Amino acid sequence: MGKTHTITLIPGDGIGPEVTDAVVRILEVTGVQFAWERFAAGAGAFEKHGEYIPKELIASIERNRVALKGPVTTPVGGGFPSINVTLRKKFELYANFRPIKNLPGLDTRYPGVDLIIIRENTEGEYVGLEHEVVPGVVESLKVITEKGSTRIAKFAFEYAAKHGRRNIHAIHKANIMKMSDGLFLRCARDVSKGYPDITYGEHIIDNTCMQLVMNPYQYDTLLLENLYGDIVSDLCAAFVGGLGLVPGANLGAEAAIFEAVHGSAPDIAGKDVANPTALLLSSVLMLWHLGESGAAERVQTAVEKVYTEKKTLTRDVGGRAGTREFADAVIAALG
Ligand code: NAI
Repeated sequence: MGKTHTITLIPGDGIGPEVTDAVVRILEVTGVQFAWERFAAGAGAFEKHGEYIPKELIASIERNRVALKGPVTTPVGGGFPSINVTLRKKFELYANFRPIKNLPGLDTRYPGVDLIIIRENTEGEYVGLEHEVVPGVVESLKVITEKGSTRIAKFAFEYAAKHGRRNIHAIHKANIMKMSDGLFLRCARDVSKGYPDITYGEHIIDNTCMQLVMNPYQYDTLLLENLYGDIVSDLCAAFVGGLGLVPGANLGAEAAIFEAVHGSAPDIAGKDVANPTALLLSSVLMLWHLGESGAAERVQTAVEKVYTEKKTLTRDVGGRAGTREFADAVIAALG
């Protein structure tokens, strides 16, 4: 029998528990042994434990160094700080890795897209430093550091070099934010010099959005600051069928948290209609990370089979199946 992987599991809220349940059921039949340490986070955790992120959850990630996480709702314009951002900062998960790739068999607006989004995950506008200077005037700080920019650029170039990617574009607004985005670019440029086989380019964020929609094939790997990466990820998800499909990983030296790009989707929560593919493909990234390459390939192949057969797809991609039914189809495809 193989090693048992102890994983911190955060089902989250909204559609989180439904998609997490589907993914855990699928992972349980891969033959890989898992022990799940399950924790609430956000409003649900506060009701139960009086804490938005229970201490036991932090200790569990510290111990296991790997977590699988469903989305957690963040109140808009007030309330508690984002659980996602807090966990990324706490564990210095500085690299947010999001592959955007078509699934075989699924017709989308753009066929054959194969893009990698690498988003800086701890700095920028997400440092949460905001205050009211005087009534009616709010100051919000964007923090860009040489250390943070250099390490995410190194991550991007190392990834590209290892996986045969042909070019990296750093995306910026250094024409306006001359110092902060200027520093981000300078660091990316410096790092790029160590990788002469990878073509390096720089595009301004607003033009990039237009270029992406006109012709996403001109890009290969995008290197972005935190906020730009957040926005561009959702835009690129639309190329391959929407947010129900795009996986993600938050990676750092000490821990890794695997989660989909999408949020808690309150508009469809509790109806058994959410597409669990995005979290399932995030769990495939987790299997690779755990060294379980055989299981990773088998789950990927099973997902592709279900999409190619087109019989058991969820509503967001033109099917009629529920979340549970889709998971059952993947389990059947796993044999
Ligand atoms: P969202 O990503 O939850 O939903 C946007 C749209 O995509 C909705 O129409 C939703 O129904 C659809 N969608 C998302 N995931 C889907 C899936 N798996 N299957 C089918 N359709 C899906 O974004 P929204 O509505 O802006 O945010 C809702 C909440 O989620 C907010 O509180 C936000 O802060 C939070 N959020 C949490 C994230 C996380 O935990 N990592 C990431 C993004 C947002």
